[in-house]
Amino acid sequence: MERSLTMELVRVTEAAALSSARWVGKGDKNSADDAATSAMRTVFDTIPMKGKVVIGEGEMDEAPMLYIGEELGTGEGQAVDVAVDPLEGTNIVANGSWNALTVVAISDGGNLLHAPDMYMDKIAVGKEAAGKVHINNSVAENIKIVAEAKNKAVEDILVVILNRPRHEPLIEEVRAAGARIKLIQDGDVAGALNTAFDDTGVDLLLGVGGAPEAVLSAVALKCLGGEIQGKLVPSNDAEVERCKKMGIDDLDRVYYMDDFCKGDDAIFAATGVTDGELLKGVQFKGERATTQSIVLRAKSGTIRFVDGSHSLKKKPNLVMDME
Ligand code: FBP
Repeated sequence: MERSLTMELVRVTEAAALSSARWVGKGDKNSADDAATSAMRTVFDTIPMKGKVVIGEGEMDEAPMLYIGEELGTGEGQAVDVAVDPLEGTNIVANGSWNALTVVAISDGGNLLHAPDMYMDKIAVGKEAAGKVHINNSVAENIKIVAEAKNKAVEDILVVILNRPRHEPLIEEVRAAGARIKLIQDGDVAGALNTAFDDTGVDLLLGVGGAPEAVLSAVALKCLGGEIQGKLVPSNDAEVERCKKMGIDDLDRVYYMDDFCKGDDAIFAATGVTDGELLKGVQFKGERATTQSIVLRAKSGTIRFVDGSHSLKKKPNLVMDME
């Protein structure tokens, strides 16, 4: 893939973050999501690429923009698969809470998993424990493996889990194993990403979240040398049927890194909308707004943190660099 796409993708996530950040704390998650989606869609059209959405806002008939199968970019250059989560944490923004991100990932055409929009059980770790944990191990076993890999005591391990009633048994298992827990209200892409950075204090992500979010997390962890594994968790007969139609007969199948994202190259970009452990959220001050983003490339292994200061006077519609 063209190296220049790395910085182009930051423009996409910055624009989405700047637009959706206007909705922080307004109790309106749909408007926050619409703002991010529309900004993202607008900037994508300026990028020289032949993109196709494989993880998006929904099927063509249910999403006006960034629907699965939609073509993105100017149509020049090489074919790439695009995965988007214009606003990862719609409720976070509605409530003005912690860790909302705008997220994009791309890979060479055909390389990203077309994950169905349903739940997936996940385990994600940073590079020290990559290749060592397994989703079919007991929780206690995986925690012990991560502790050994990171040269930490089990009681020092911090496990991120979405705060949901479905996770009560998992929470009990983690407590029984002796590890600590960080319950998050939303945003398991940030949870997975944080496992790869020591400063966040997070060692492991466990539990059930969205399958599309797992693909985005996998691209990030591929660039960072970490790992995510997942197993689809259909919620009802209709979802089981959907899996069958997609050719997924084995519902116990474990999805590994190469299933989520094939090949040796992929790019991931995310911008903070609200403050998180890794990225600061958007701040507005007079005529300017600041953003903080991360952009990663698998092939080179480069990790970039990008601070942006944007003129709201010159770009009043908050969509950056459109000329
Ligand atoms: P949205 O931004 O689409 O609301 O997703 C937030 C999120 O918390 C994801 O990070 C997570 O994978 C999923 O929702 C969990 O789903 P649920 O809220 O149904 O438990």
